[in-house]
Amino acid sequence: MSNKVYIETYGCQMNVADSEVVISILSDKGFQLTQNINDAGLILLNTCSIRENAEQRIWSRLKAIKHLKKKNGEIIIGLIGCMAERLKKRVLETDQLVDIVVGPDAYRELPLLVAEAESGHKAINVLLSREETYADISPVRMDKNGVSSFVSIMRGCNNMCAYCVVPYVRGAERSRDPQSILREVKELFDSGYREVTLLGQNVDSYKWIFNDKVITFSGLLEMVTQVNPLLRVRFSTSHPKDISDDLLKTIAGYDNICKHIHLPAQSGSSRILKLMNREYSREWYMDRIRAIRSIIPDCSLSTDMISGFCTETEEDHQASLSLMEWAGFDFAYMFKYSERPGTKAARKYKDDIPDEIKTKRLNEIISLQNKLSSVSKKHDVGKVFEVLIEGPSKRSQEFLSGRTSQNKVVVFPGEGHKKGEYINVFIERCTSATLIGKIVK
Ligand code: 5AD
Ligand code: SF4
Repeated sequence: MSNKVYIETYGCQMNVADSEVVISILSDKGFQLTQNINDAGLILLNTCSIRENAEQRIWSRLKAIKHLKKKNGEIIIGLIGCMAERLKKRVLETDQLVDIVVGPDAYRELPLLVAEAESGHKAINVLLSREETYADISPVRMDKNGVSSFVSIMRGCNNMCAYCVVPYVRGAERSRDPQSILREVKELFDSGYREVTLLGQNVDSYKWIFNDKVITFSGLLEMVTQVNPLLRVRFSTSHPKDISDDLLKTIAGYDNICKHIHLPAQSGSSRILKLMNREYSREWYMDRIRAIRSIIPDCSLSTDMISGFCTETEEDHQASLSLMEWAGFDFAYMFKYSERPGTKAARKYKDDIPDEIKTKRLNEIISLQNKLSSVSKKHDVGKVFEVLIEGPSKRSQEFLSGRTSQNKVVVFPGEGHKKGEYINVFIERCTSATLIGKIVK
């Protein structure tokens, strides 16, 4: 078998970070990363289970790579990540093509499992762990720009949102040793990175106990900001029930903590939020937004919204729209509810909203968000923002692209500047996705 490994990553940023851990583990055992699937002896799909269509995409992808295996029977195909964890050995029964199945907490076993598959046996490890954080592993960076990177600070999730498969596929919440986080962040800074995004399902509940001292997420953020003032720090995802004034004050207190909070609301109806087991009401969510606006006045806000959760009425849907309008989100990820087997919603409630209604409501949510995103960008025209340059813009080499602290993309004539530099840009106009401006000296 060729020792080249090819990996495709689906789903969230956490999976992107995990793929970098997987490649690090395999590189240590002599595997080489390739960008060309036709060269690979080992093909890995790092999968997502969050919605049914995420899984369907992966089944079709598996079908599409069948011809490679037909041409060369020695190729090993591995399904890893959340879908591997959810379906366990059923994957091997459903698709004869797959040789190995590995859940998110078993990546250290990958070299062994590949060897087992090489000797002709199907191999599987989907054990979840209470401790595994891959703290000692230095991820092999696969990002394109060399400026911004993800750093995983915790794994798993202890919230039991009724719709969500994550606690089942990623196990219980556990935080990573802050020293290992700092080591990774310093290595990134030293190799030219200027932005890290600290990742966890619920970063607000980060907690590390050492010598009877508790390090909270606020404490961790402060430690990471100290690595270097030229390093920007982002984080995701915050939970409305846990985001505290103390954390907001920390965010406000450091120039290099980005002024952007991703705070998924999911719904604007307190009745639906209760059914979703989100542990906050519409009023609580609004109170948290008021706190953000008063403690961090220049903060941008993004959210996740779900349309058509079980029993959602037109009135509940209108409450979602009115919350979005009131909050004036700068950005949103928006989804139709998709029932996931084994979750509380699947066990206890009926998925009773017809697909046409879910779609209609989702479309209304999307068109409202388009309006809000456009208002948010127009608001920036005429102002100056500090931008971290990420590289040439997609359209033209003469233009550079970067982001504001608020996470908005800015494109401007490069004037000889390079990625990784900070410059001030005056915003002249905007398109639907981008701010456009010029450098001010
Ligand atoms: N159906 C639709 N959307 C979902 N999400 C999580 N589970 C589901 C589901 N079953 C959305 C939530 C979450 C985001 C990552 O995905 O909005 O915040
Ligand atoms: Fe990420 Fe959740 Fe999808 Fe897993 S199921 S990849 S945790 S979004």
